[in-house]
Amino acid sequence: MDLGIEGNAALVTAGTAGLGLASAEALAREGCDVAVCGRDADRLARAEDRLAATGDGDVLAVSADITEHDEIEGFVGKTIQTFGRLDHVVTSAGGPPSGSFLDTDDEDWYHAYDLLVMSVVRTVRAAHPTITEDGGGTIVCITSRSVQEVIDELVLSNAVRRGVIGLMKTLSHEFAPAVRTNAVLPGAHETGRIEELVEDAVERGDYEDYGAGLDDWADDVPLERIGEPRELGEAVAWLCSERASYLNGAAVPVDGGSTRSV
Ligand SMILES: NC(=O)c1ccc[n+]([C@@H]2O[C@H](COP(=O)([O-])OP(=O)(O)OC[C@H]3O[C@@H](n4cnc5c(N)ncnc54)[C@H](OP(=O)(O)O)[C@@H]3O)[C@@H](O)[C@H]2O)c1
Repeated sequence: MDLGIEGNAALVTAGTAGLGLASAEALAREGCDVAVCGRDADRLARAEDRLAATGDGDVLAVSADITEHDEIEGFVGKTIQTFGRLDHVVTSAGGPPSGSFLDTDDEDWYHAYDLLVMSVVRTVRAAHPTITEDGGGTIVCITSRSVQEVIDELVLSNAVRRGVIGLMKTLSHEFAPAVRTNAVLPGAHETGRIEELVEDAVERGDYEDYGAGLDDWADDVPLERIGEPRELGEAVAWLCSERASYLNGAAVPVDGGSTRSV
């Protein structure tokens, strides 16, 4: 299926690994110019190589910490300057630390808010003047299925990410019709983040080893496996595309059916 976005320009925050990178790859496969940001220099270089090998569009990899206001502005500005346009904004982030409520202090909560919510606020604010030009564009926020059903030992994700859904819904009204804004709610996809969460659970004594932890996560999924990052990235690219032209304000689970609420 031709997604109709060839020649568009996209940026993906925290896009040098995991679900952000998978989204950037899916957009690159569709012929978009793609910019990603992250902090670690090796990861940035590896992501740039992978993206360059994926599609025919231009690639930009920028060192930026999305908890820092100036660095986000720099990333968005450099993307617009390099590509001369901006059609699609995809927001990913690192994951907040796992743990229960009593494990967290004020600093953890403020850091999670900067990482998960203010990074989206600042990216969208910087992108808005350009993304509304030339027929408009799209915003897709990568959040978590934790916004629909709380997940044990993930209090920061459960509580703080809901701010992104409120923001996404508001933008779907305020920025329409020029810009469609949606969110994806990943279940478990095998990335560095999932390795970290399963290893934390092994350390807490919840599982005997990493393999047992991964099997347990898959047990809860009707499709009987955890997802590949590519499967989330393709949903993101589709939401950015002409093929999803009447989707606006939607929070789309990409979780193999593991969320039980409707
Ligand atoms: N994987 C899943 O199954 C799953 C499920 C539900 C929700 N999620 C959520 O989806 C998001 C992405 O998860 P993932 O699995 O893709 O994680 P990941 O594999 O750990 O990748 C995280 C990416 O974010 C970058 N990053 C982290 N902190 C950053 C910062 N402050 N500034 C800039 N870049 C930053 C990392 O690069 P650097 O460290 O080099 O900066 C890396 O590129 C997270 O919020 C996660 O909690 C994931």
